[in-house]
Amino acid sequence: MTRLSVNINKIALIRNARGSNLPDLVQVAKDCERFGAQGITVHPRPDERHVRYRDIPLLKEVVQTEFNIEGNPTPEFLKMVLATKPDQCTLVPDAPDALTSDNGWDTIKHKTFLKEVIGSLKAAGVRVSLFINPEGEMLEGAKEVGADRIEFYTGPYAKMYSQDKQQAVLSYKEAAKITNQLGLGINAGHDLNLDNLNYFVQEVEAVLEVSIGHALVCDALYLGLNNTIAQYRRALV
Ligand code: PXP
Repeated sequence: MTRLSVNINKIALIRNARGSNLPDLVQVAKDCERFGAQGITVHPRPDERHVRYRDIPLLKEVVQTEFNIEGNPTPEFLKMVLATKPDQCTLVPDAPDALTSDNGWDTIKHKTFLKEVIGSLKAAGVRVSLFINPEGEMLEGAKEVGADRIEFYTGPYAKMYSQDKQQAVLSYKEAAKITNQLGLGINAGHDLNLDNLNYFVQEVEAVLEVSIGHALVCDALYLGLNNTIAQYRRALV
């Protein structure tokens, strides 16, 4: 069974638009869990346009499922993660001005850096996942630097899904076999939605967790948060 982690960045974006505390991010995180979310994900970016660093301890206090913090491991980010000790930290190589994450790690080029960062997170008891494209070499590199899991960047899958879903999922199916052989856990995320989610988890072996934000929050505008989370959970069985 694949677990659903709800990325609440977009909720913070709405809050930040007006400078008050509406919607209340902490209450939304609690409600997502009440409605069936099996994890809460945040991705604080350097400009804090969504989740802010000061939100993190408040969320850590209330999240009872799994708390996943994503981001580029800058010194400031690492300091915050080590102080928070979430259940999982997903390392993402996104540029400070990136609109959203759009590529996985080059685990060979950044081997020394990743080894060091992952070592410090694991020493603090934090599970580490690496955002990655579905490529064998990068997966082997992820194993070598000590990651516990990888998160497949599913943007390209989502983009191709409506034209040719079999082709769209092929590289992920093959990469999942390698990942399982390497003994790494598999997460997935980016642009997953109610159309493309079920096919992905049916086709790709042993996906432990998906983290979904943008489409889920957009669906919630029409369907309500409770009903939306229920529908995403149903797509995962
Ligand atoms: N995984 C990572 C590493 C991300 O950066 C994001 C977006 O913040 C997601 C998953 C979720 O993507 P989406 O918002 O498209 O569901």
